[in-house]
Amino acid sequence: MSQLLSDAEVIDRIFHHMDNKSTDRGGEVWREPVENYLSEDRFQAEIRLLRRLPVPFCPSAALPDAGSYVARTAALTPILVVRGDDGVVRAFRNACRHRGMPVAQGSGCARAFNCPYHAWSYGLDGGLKHIPSADGFPDIDKASRGLVPVKAVEKNGVVFVTQDEEISTEAMDWMPQIIYPQQHLFDTAEISDNANWKLLCETSMEGYHIKALHNRSFYPYGFDNLNVVETHGPNSRITFPFRRIEKLRKVPPAERRIDGMVTYVYQLFPNAHISVLSSHSLFIVVEPVSPSESKWIIYRLSNRHGKGDGAAEKVDEAKRDAQFVKDTGLDEDRHAARAIQSGLTSKANIEFTFGHFEEAIVHFHTNLRALLPKVD
Ligand code: FES
Ligand SMILES: [Fe+2]
Repeated sequence: MSQLLSDAEVIDRIFHHMDNKSTDRGGEVWREPVENYLSEDRFQAEIRLLRRLPVPFCPSAALPDAGSYVARTAALTPILVVRGDDGVVRAFRNACRHRGMPVAQGSGCARAFNCPYHAWSYGLDGGLKHIPSADGFPDIDKASRGLVPVKAVEKNGVVFVTQDEEISTEAMDWMPQIIYPQQHLFDTAEISDNANWKLLCETSMEGYHIKALHNRSFYPYGFDNLNVVETHGPNSRITFPFRRIEKLRKVPPAERRIDGMVTYVYQLFPNAHISVLSSHSLFIVVEPVSPSESKWIIYRLSNRHGKGDGAAEKVDEAKRDAQFVKDTGLDEDRHAARAIQSGLTSKANIEFTFGHFEEAIVHFHTNLRALLPKVD
């Protein structure tokens, strides 16, 4: 598929599925060895791959000004991303060139990064600016002791970081405009789960579990197993319609607006996704920590029609929407992934089977498997 369906085409396909009690179906059934969720070797190969792909790091909205920075671990590497005085986003290995201390923690806005250990100081461009009592280092070449850069690219509201020699995929080239500049970032969070990163990612890739797992949260507002699934390169988009989309049948096709009628979930291969929900958007990166532990990096933004008249109310609405999703659906998905993880060693399954309704997961594993040999 060369490009995403238009909103009108998505609406038509949803009405077709509602009328025919059908859903999009993939062509293949996939069997994934359970060992791939447990193996330390497989995990290390995945980490090496993650370091060679352009991986979403944060939304541009997390770096609004010159000096805005975000420091966190990505694929087990401490990374610092910062917007320079020239507006360009740069990324560095977050390790002091004296003895390796991280020079920044968390997020904020800075004019320089002063290492907390012995106060070597670095500019926003990573250059080493100052060494206290520099006569203790008579031979040091300051020009070659800047923070070590890694590749950062900002595209359509998303910052991508590639740590090592890049393997080219279409992942970043495809990046459509999902996040718009006027969207307000109102919350950031980090949570940990005792589950393999792939189990957590898989929860957002199909709608076959809506009635069973989300019976009282999402199902009253949505459909079970009624999705539009599109793929592009290694990425995908899964559309989850709300029941209220029925109202659009009375609206002439040219006047139909899809906002608030569906949740679009854009899977950004391999470990990030952006969900555009009723009133807010979720930007999520699932960071692998170990084969059995992962960290969610979460940014919550109001949706794009949140500025102008009534903007404050729109942000309040976005926060209520976010609270509902966080306390219900996301918690249910996280619980499912942790529960699966706790049973992986039971030997009940040698492999997991992903069927025709789990097409986006099949797509994910197909691409992951194809790329992994290249990093060994
Ligand atoms: S480790 Fe950073 S100044 Fe010493
Ligand atoms: Fe779910």
